[in-house]
Amino acid sequence: MSSVDKDQVEERLTTGILGQWYAVAKSVQVKRDKPQPVMALGRHLVLWRDTGGKLHCLEDYCPHRGARLSRGEVNADNISCRYHGVTLDGSGTIVRVPAMPGCPLEGRKAVDSYPVLETNDAVFVYFPSKERPDAPELNLPAEFSDPAWSGILCVGRWDCSYRLVYDNFADPMHACYLHANSFTLAFGAKQDVLQVEKRDDGFHIARVEQKDVNLDWTDVIIDGTQIYCRLDIPYPDAAGPGGPFRIIGYTTPVDEHSCMVFFWRFRQVEGIARESWRFLYRATLEARHWHVLEQDREMLTHIPEDAHKREMLYQHDVGVARMRRILSQQAKSQLAAEEMAAVRTAV
Ligand code: FES
Ligand SMILES: [Fe+2]
Repeated sequence: MSSVDKDQVEERLTTGILGQWYAVAKSVQVKRDKPQPVMALGRHLVLWRDTGGKLHCLEDYCPHRGARLSRGEVNADNISCRYHGVTLDGSGTIVRVPAMPGCPLEGRKAVDSYPVLETNDAVFVYFPSKERPDAPELNLPAEFSDPAWSGILCVGRWDCSYRLVYDNFADPMHACYLHANSFTLAFGAKQDVLQVEKRDDGFHIARVEQKDVNLDWTDVIIDGTQIYCRLDIPYPDAAGPGGPFRIIGYTTPVDEHSCMVFFWRFRQVEGIARESWRFLYRATLEARHWHVLEQDREMLTHIPEDAHKREMLYQHDVGVARMRRILSQQAKSQLAAEEMAAVRTAV
C-alpha cells in the first residue's frame, strides 16, 4: 500500500509529471556548432548537434566543478566545457580531460542524458520516471506526418503554471467570451452544456448544442507518453482554402511559475493551395492568431497562483476536472513507483 500523500502529488504536479515527452525548443534554436541551454521541469538542460546534425541532450552541468556546459562548445560529436575543457559525449560520459591525459575521470558516466527527437520544427525531450526509465515511442499527432496537412509552429513563453494551459485546453467554452472580438471566434451562442466522451488516449469535450461554429470541441490526448490538445476553429471564406483551422497544442513546464507553449496551426491544403495558405498565413493571418493567443496569455498569467484554493467550478468545468483528475492519477502512480523502488533498494 502506497503512502503517497496529497502534498507529494501536488509537488510533482507543480514541477511537471515525469515519464512523458515534452516539447522544449524550436529546431532553429539549436544551431550547428553552438550548444543551446533550455530549461524544462525545473531542470537546466543543454542541447547540441553532432557533426551529422543529430541532437543530443544532457544536464547543463559540468561534472568537474559545475560550470554550465551550454557556455562551452561543440567538439565534433561531443561537448566541451569552457572552464577547463572537460569533454563529454551524448551519453553523459567523460571522454577527455584535456588538461590531464589519462585522468581517471575519463570513461565515467557523469551526468544524465535525455532521449531527444526532432519533428515538425520542434525538439522533444523525454523525462524518465521510475515506472518508465526508457523512452516509449512517441505517437505524434497524425497531422505531423500526413502530407494533406500543412502546419506552422509558433512558440511562446508564458509566465504562468503549465497547469493553467492544460485547464485552458479542456475548456472550449471560454472561446466565445474571451475571444469574442476576434476574427474567427466571434460567432455562435454564448450558452450551452458540455459533454465529455472518454477515449482510450484521453477525452473529447464538446458543446452539446453547437458544432462547427466556434471552438466547439477539443480532443485532449493523454496517452501516457505525452499530453496535447487538438481543436478546430471554423474559418470565414476570406481566410482562403483549406477548411477549418486546426490547432495542435503542447505545453511544457519551465518551472513552477512559467511554461512554454507550442502551437501548430494546420490547414488541410496541398499543391498551390498549400503555398497560398502559407503565404497568406505569414502575410496576414499570423498577426491575428497571435492576437488571440495573447488574449489567452494575458488572462492566464493574471490568475493568482493560489486561485485553485477558492475556485467555484460549474458544469462547464467538467473537462478541467477530468484533466486534473487524470494528471493527479499519473503523478500518484509514478510517486508510488518511486516509493517502491526506494524500498527495494533499502532491503
Ligand atoms: S568546470 Fe567544467 S571543466 Fe572545469
Ligand atoms: Fe483561448
